[in-house]
Amino acid sequence: MEHKLHTIRVMVNGTEYVRDVEPRLTLADFLRHELGLTGTHVGCEHGVCGACTILLDGAPARSCITFAVQMDGHEIRTVEGYAQGETLHPVQDAFWEHNALQCGFCTPGMLASAIDLLERNPDPSEQEIRETLSGNLCRCTGYQSIVQAVQVAAARMRAAAAGADQPGSAS
Ligand code: FES
Ligand code: FES
Repeated sequence: MEHKLHTIRVMVNGTEYVRDVEPRLTLADFLRHELGLTGTHVGCEHGVCGACTILLDGAPARSCITFAVQMDGHEIRTVEGYAQGETLHPVQDAFWEHNALQCGFCTPGMLASAIDLLERNPDPSEQEIRETLSGNLCRCTGYQSIVQAVQVAAARMRAAAAGADQPGSAS
């Protein structure tokens, strides 16, 4: 049976896309197959594992249980959009430095949750980091290196923000 297509206008990583989508197309499949943004991974497809987590209007969302048709007028950030040009986001940098990934399957979702946490709370406790990341499953790392990477990123982001507040700072 053919489904009626719906036109959506959505901002993804700073670029506006206008596409006709079927009502049952998930956001994860839209990102991966329509836009070619395959950095968003699909694991359980039931909203449980967190691998498909993206930032929707600035907040983490499971793209496997979100429909693309709901995205009309919304803004999405995916792992392809966290870096600034050649410069990795501080959380990405800390993950790389602290071996916070092995197979990398969970990593895009972990990054989304961690970036959201640090944007809301620049100085989270270890417990807050663990609670935030409890919705993202990792089969490889044991989580310790991920928590450490988020702590390191948080400290660096606080230091950068303090530097930016100094009189005479460049930015
Ligand atoms: S693939 Fe979406 S939560 Fe697992
Ligand atoms: S690094 Fe393999 S699942 Fe997390």
